[in-house]
Amino acid sequence: TASDVCDLKEKELPAPSSCPYSLAALPGPTKLPILGSLLDILRKGGLKRQHEALASYHKQFGKIFRMKLGSFDSVHIGAPCLLEALYREESNYPKRLEIKPWKAYRDYRDEAYGLLILEGKDWQRVRSAFQQKLMKPTEVGKLDAKINEVLVDFMQRIDSVCDEDGTIEDLYCELNKWSLESICLVLYEKRFGFLQPNLGEEALNFITAIKTMMSTFGLMMVTPVELHKSLNTKIWKDHTHAWDSIFKTAKCHIDRRLTKLASKDSEDFLCTIYNDSKLSKKEMYATITEMLIGAVETTANSLLWVIFNISRHPHIQKKLLEEIQSILLPNQVPTADDVRNMPYLKACLKESMRITPSIPFTTRTLDKETILGDYVLPKGTVLTINSHVLGSNQECFDNWNQFRPERWLEEKNTINPFAYIPFGIGKRMCIGRRLAELQLQLTLCWLIRKYNIVATDNDPMETLHLGTLMPSRELPVAFHRR
Ligand code: HEM
Repeated sequence: TASDVCDLKEKELPAPSSCPYSLAALPGPTKLPILGSLLDILRKGGLKRQHEALASYHKQFGKIFRMKLGSFDSVHIGAPCLLEALYREESNYPKRLEIKPWKAYRDYRDEAYGLLILEGKDWQRVRSAFQQKLMKPTEVGKLDAKINEVLVDFMQRIDSVCDEDGTIEDLYCELNKWSLESICLVLYEKRFGFLQPNLGEEALNFITAIKTMMSTFGLMMVTPVELHKSLNTKIWKDHTHAWDSIFKTAKCHIDRRLTKLASKDSEDFLCTIYNDSKLSKKEMYATITEMLIGAVETTANSLLWVIFNISRHPHIQKKLLEEIQSILLPNQVPTADDVRNMPYLKACLKESMRITPSIPFTTRTLDKETILGDYVLPKGTVLTINSHVLGSNQECFDNWNQFRPERWLEEKNTINPFAYIPFGIGKRMCIGRRLAELQLQLTLCWLIRKYNIVATDNDPMETLHLGTLMPSRELPVAFHRR
């Protein structure tokens, strides 16, 4: 197994003290044969609390350490200087850890890979086809009308699901519906009606398929997917059916969009990408599908946390409202240009994503030997890059656990850019960053203008790692109409 090979390599290497620069010299938690540090992680609260366990290891072992969880062997990095070194050494085609169950489905059905799982030159080709349209603020700004169209419904939806105290029973579910409706309009040019009181059949099936796909791949990440496939296990069948349904929806709406708009609308961003890039239809389906999957929960989760952080700081909310009112007339619909002139709003979002990042870690698999800090890491090493630990680094962020948007606006702002990476880093960073930022900025405008978001308690909020960073209980907030 992979862990046996690693053990063997370590035994063959000189003792750590005489070889301070090798992988074997890296500090880390005690590891048992086969299990590695699994028991220690379980003792510290299990995988749901792994972000806390990893933060405590970083405190104990410093900015870089090595940990094995079963056969998963990874070098953890959590300091800006190491991120900078990695960035400078980055190859042309950086790789993340493979999502094998997703690849297995595509191979099984002869579908293409999208940006989340592509590698090498194919990844670069597809990435550059979308990069220009998605990473340029002026291009993404053209999507503001679509985002606002969905926000009109979202505001009504909040009114209708609030009880008389202004609380919402399952706020996270509502935010996910908003996020899904918004990204579907951007990518499929289709209103599904996720924010309507009664969901139509197509909308319900689509939500169920996404939920099932997401809840069935974790187990196949840690057990051999080929085995699931050959035994045709329930988990493999559920996963496959869920993807079938997701791809069916994608094909239907992407085909419709490309045909409908091809002749008429040269400004349509998907048509432009398709016409200019020579990507195949299959590549379009897979890439757009993976964008949708990458977008929905991350954006909803980031909105959840900014609502929470702002609810606990009424003076910040007041300042934010004043900024919004200084730019917009009472019923004026905010545009991308308007939010560009709202530095405090942008700082609130940045601060929220620093202190409570939706995706606490990302990974890289080194495709060449790389020097990080005092260590030479061989090709094939898996790195875990910890944005959660970076954002709570006291050396980079004074009083790191205080939510203080002003820190981003100070004239002598000396914040190290490598300490703030909620969207990842380098050539493989999130391609939806600009779109997510615009969605969140516009949403915050609408929300703060209409509601005073109040904290219904001030007890500490614990966080759980459930793919995204989640609050451990229903968010204690209420929406009071202004
Ligand atoms: C990748 C976070 C919204 C599509 C990533 C990564 C992170 C991330 C941490 C990994 C980057 C790395 O490994 O360096 C977020 C957060 C979002 C968000 C916090 C919301 C606030 C979106 C949206 C889209 C999207 C709206 C849709 C366009 C993707 C894709 C990748 C990715 C396709 C893979 C990029 C590649 O490997 O080339 N995202 N994301 N994300 N995200 Fe996002």
